[in-house]
Amino acid sequence: MNLYSDLLRPCLFRFEPETAHHLALTGLRLTPAPILRAMFGAPAEKPVRLFGVTFPNPVGLAAGMDKNAEVLGAWEALGFGFVEAGTITARAQPGNDKPRCFRFPPQQALINRMGFNNPGAEAVARTLAELKSSGRWPKIPVGMNIGKSKVTALEDAPSDYAASFRQLLPFGDYFVINVSSPNTPGLRQLQDRDSLAAIVRTLKAIDSKKPLLVKIAPDLSDDAVKDMASLAESEKLDGLIATNTTLDHSSVPAGHDQTGGLSGAPLRSRSTEVLRILRAHTALPIIASGGVMSAESAREKLEAGASLVQIYTGFIYRGPGLIREIVGVWEVSKSV
Ligand SMILES: Cc1cc2nc3c(=O)[nH]c(=O)nc-3n(C[C@H](O)[C@H](O)[C@H](O)COP(=O)(O)O)c2cc1C
Repeated sequence: MNLYSDLLRPCLFRFEPETAHHLALTGLRLTPAPILRAMFGAPAEKPVRLFGVTFPNPVGLAAGMDKNAEVLGAWEALGFGFVEAGTITARAQPGNDKPRCFRFPPQQALINRMGFNNPGAEAVARTLAELKSSGRWPKIPVGMNIGKSKVTALEDAPSDYAASFRQLLPFGDYFVINVSSPNTPGLRQLQDRDSLAAIVRTLKAIDSKKPLLVKIAPDLSDDAVKDMASLAESEKLDGLIATNTTLDHSSVPAGHDQTGGLSGAPLRSRSTEVLRILRAHTALPIIASGGVMSAESAREKLEAGASLVQIYTGFIYRGPGLIREIVGVWEVSKSV
């Protein structure tokens, strides 16, 4: 019997996705780490060193699952090699109206339009400071994914990102500028060269040592992806995350579509294509995110030039066993 697919997933899938998400986070908060470790077993050690940070294994939890950094220790206990908190914005905001997350089990996909619901950078920084002083800070690297507050005008984006960056600076092992969520109006326009360069320069003026990455959309044209690689080089970014969710819903059956970003199996091939284009144009580290649902799809990312992978939808459908499966096939020598 598989604990996740035979027991936990059927229970969680009886609830609508956001309720299931809250139940899962509550379960993780209440279950002591040694019990989580005993339930799922530790993955092999496959350390990867990138931008001065050592990752005990290459499989990370993608942004959006632990938006408010509430259960960081649990992800380590489940076997993740790193976790990315967020997206966190400078201002507290409720996100879009519910329901705003939808499952598509036959397609092994999700659509979400959460809209960066979070209590704001100052509140998350308080949570993180408490965790630090409790002595229960996880031993795996923690990334901080920051986004623009909905009420902030696009032209004021640099100072909005800067406010979150300042608050969270002591806590992140690396930082991600999220300019690729489809659920904040206009956000993706910040992928435009000048806008993005202004954000990067503002953050680098505050701190030039923390590894800084940009997470990009799979819906950029191939030329725009090439431009992104060149911008990453010229602005001295430490890496890129490819990719966020897609607005291509062609895999969703007619009559069942929902507004939002699509993730999971149907995203895999475009996300890998974007990764290949980036790899052909830059030697910077790339974290692959998008449709990693199996060891085989993770290998595809590795072969295409990823240094690390992140999972979200695969974790929902496959559970913690997927981490071990991927770690098992990852060849460290192939990591950039
Ligand atoms: C419900 C949900 C919420 C998400 N929230 C965020 C977010 O806040 N910030 C972000 O950068 N990505 C967010 N993502 C995107 C994931 O981090 C990931 O990049 C994307 O889902 C593709 O990976 P996957 O196919 O493994 O899910 C979210 C995804 C889902 C399904």
